[in-house]
Amino acid sequence: MDQNRPIVKSDLRRDLGLLDAVAVGLGAIIGAGIFVVTGVAAGVAGPAFLVGLLIAGGVATCNALSSAQLAATYPQSGGTYEYGYRVLHPWLGFVAGWMFLISKLAAGGTVALGFAGYLHALIPAIPQRPAAVAIIILLTAINYIGIRKTGRLNIAIVSISLATLVYFIIGGLPALDMGNLRPFAPHGWRRVLESTAMLFFAYTGYARLATLGEEVSDPKRNIPRAIMIALGIAILLYMLVALVAVGGVGAEAMAATASPLERAAQAFPLPGVALVIAIGATTAMLGVLLSQILGISRMLFAMARRHDLPALLSHVHPEYEVPDRGIILTGLAAIIVALFGTLETIVAAASFSILIYYMLANLSALRMRQQDKLFPDWVPVLGAISCAALALTLRMPVILGGLAMLAAGLVWRVVYRRVSGHTMAGEELER
Ligand code: ALA
Repeated sequence: MDQNRPIVKSDLRRDLGLLDAVAVGLGAIIGAGIFVVTGVAAGVAGPAFLVGLLIAGGVATCNALSSAQLAATYPQSGGTYEYGYRVLHPWLGFVAGWMFLISKLAAGGTVALGFAGYLHALIPAIPQRPAAVAIIILLTAINYIGIRKTGRLNIAIVSISLATLVYFIIGGLPALDMGNLRPFAPHGWRRVLESTAMLFFAYTGYARLATLGEEVSDPKRNIPRAIMIALGIAILLYMLVALVAVGGVGAEAMAATASPLERAAQAFPLPGVALVIAIGATTAMLGVLLSQILGISRMLFAMARRHDLPALLSHVHPEYEVPDRGIILTGLAAIIVALFGTLETIVAAASFSILIYYMLANLSALRMRQQDKLFPDWVPVLGAISCAALALTLRMPVILGGLAMLAAGLVWRVVYRRVSGHTMAGEELER
C-alpha cells in the first residue's frame, strides 16, 4: 500500500468555509500570549522583545507552511498524528498525537483559569474556579451541538478580540514615544532570544485547523489559505500592538504587571481603552478554549479510529455529526485540570510537548511526496531546527517531565493494542 497516498474522505461534516476556517485559526492563536506574555518578555529583553516577537513570527511561519502543505494533501482529522502515521511511522504519528493531547489538555485548563481571572477582574463578584468550570461546561455543550454553530460562535468571539486590539492600536498611536524604546536591548541580545522562545507561545494555534481537516469545505484550497491568512493577521496585529504598548509606556512598566496591555492603555488619550482591552482578553481566552476543545476532541477521534485509543472515542453523533464522546471526555479532562492544576506546572507541561508535535509536522513535510510539496525543503528544515532550538531553551525539569509523559504514552500504546487485539503488524495495513 502506498503510505503516501493522499486521501480526502471525511467521516465528519464539511461545514467550515474559508471565513470560518480563518476564524478558527485566529481563535486558536490570539490568547494569553499577546495579552500576558508580552509583559514577561518585555521584562526579559527590554524593548528589543519586539525583535523576539518578529523572530518568533518567522519560526511560526516556517512551521505553519509545513502544516499547511500537509493539510492540503491529507485533509483529515488529527493533523500531525495522521501525517506522522502515514509518512513517517505509526509510532511517530502516535507520539505526535499523544504530545498534542497532553499539551492541549494542560493548556485548556490554563486558558479556562486565565479566562476566569480576567472575568474576576472585570466583575469581582464572580469567583474564579467555579467560573472556569462553568465556561468549560458551556463551551463543551456548544461544541457538542455541531461544527457549524461552534464556527459561528467562534467568529463572533474572534471579531470582538480583533476589534479590541485594533482599538488599542488606534488609541495608542498618538501616545507613541520613541524615547520609550531606548535603550533598545538593555539586557543584551541573548535575552532577546530567550524572549523569542516565550513569545513563540503567542503564535501557537496556527495548526489547529489541520486537526479539523475533515470539517473544512474544499480543504485543499481552504486549509492552507486559512492557516496563512490567520497567522499573517496575527503577526501584523501582534507587532503593532507590541510596538504601541512599549512605545506608550516602556518595557519596565509592561513588565511590572500581569496585564501589560491594560497598563499601557491607561496611558492612552482615547477613553475606555483599558476596559476594552480587558474585554478583549476575556474573549480571546474564550476563543482559545473553544478551539482547544475542538482540536482535542478531533485528535481523540482520529487516534481512536486507528485503535490507539478506545473505540468509543471515535463515535460520531448521528445528528450533529461531531465526535460526541470525545467532546465530553475533553470537557471532563479540562475541568479536572482547571480544578487541580496550577498555572506554572500546566504551562511547563504544555511547552515541551507541543514543540515535539511541531517538529514531527516538519519532518512529515520533508518526507511527503515530491509532487505534493508546495514549498521548498528548507522551510521544514528551518522549522524543525527552530523547534529543537526552542525546546533546548526550556528548563531541564520541564524537558524531563515531557519525556516522562511521552514514555507513559508509549507504554499505553503497547498495552492497549495488545489488550484490544490490534497488533502492531496490523497497523501497517492501516497506513
Ligand atoms: N497562542 C495562544 C495564546 O496566545 C495559545 O494564548
